[in-house]
Amino acid sequence: MMTVLITGASSGIGAGLAKAWADDGCKVIACGRDPERLETLRQHSPHISVRSFDMTDRDACRLALQDCQPGLVILCAGTCEYLDKGVIDAELVERVMATNVLGPVNCLAALQSQLVSGSRVVLVSSMAHWLHFPRAEAYGASKAALTWFANTLRLDWEPKGIAVTVVSPGFVDTPLTRKNDFPMPGQVSVVHAVRAIRQGVAKGKNHIAFPRGFSVMMRLLAGMPGGVQRMLLRRMVRS
Ligand SMILES: NC(=O)c1ccc[n+]([C@@H]2O[C@H](COP(=O)([O-])OP(=O)(O)OC[C@H]3O[C@@H](n4cnc5c(N)ncnc54)[C@H](OP(=O)(O)O)[C@@H]3O)[C@@H](O)[C@H]2O)c1
Repeated sequence: MMTVLITGASSGIGAGLAKAWADDGCKVIACGRDPERLETLRQHSPHISVRSFDMTDRDACRLALQDCQPGLVILCAGTCEYLDKGVIDAELVERVMATNVLGPVNCLAALQSQLVSGSRVVLVSSMAHWLHFPRAEAYGASKAALTWFANTLRLDWEPKGIAVTVVSPGFVDTPLTRKNDFPMPGQVSVVHAVRAIRQGVAKGKNHIAFPRGFSVMMRLLAGMPGGVQRMLLRRMVRS
């Protein structure tokens, strides 16, 4: 049975994916920071082992991942913080970039010599960078950077036989979105997200976006002229 390594497995989408692949009989290496939540996850199935480390720490990633040989890597861990009223909080931007961009890069750097032909790496991005949403300067930029990195890596790793998939969720009901104080159209459950991601991975897709209706609407908006987009997005700016 395949070994699946999942970051962000202590919560939300990552936890759902870890349980689903373990229930299929896969060996799951579940990564996160919170040892207690990881232990709760471990008790879900004998197929799950856990590793606790901060993926913004390059040495910690190297140590934690040095003996893994996963056939499937799901880099799901991430964070979301918004700027307020256009005030640039450099520490906030650094935290978001470190977690959402450098974290996955640290994991891939640690794993690259252990990945063999036929394996697949899945990076969880977001639709948030398809449009320039107010307050999402840090989060949107981090997911745009992650997506760029993944799409480029796909070409460079193709000759090695390693596939790269980008996942772009809309809104999913998890601890990450429960702190949002704005409407989240088209929000779906973790169950929906897990099904969409696993179906896309099983089909060998390069890009997975869900929910479908919301993703079509977002693509249409992103294809509109810049002036029209700004007119619509301006309505979301907080005074
Ligand atoms: N929920 C949505 O609507 C939505 C939409 C689009 C994209 N996404 C993306 O989907 C992914 C999963 O999000 P989620 O909604 O499931 O969030 P979540 O429930 O808040 O889970 C986030 C996970 O990331 C881990 N994590 C955060 N910082 C870390 C670090 N420095 N080192 C190691 N692990 C770290 C957390 O571990 P600990 O808790 O153990 O610290 C946790 O397991 C994220 O990349 C997010 O950007 C989510």
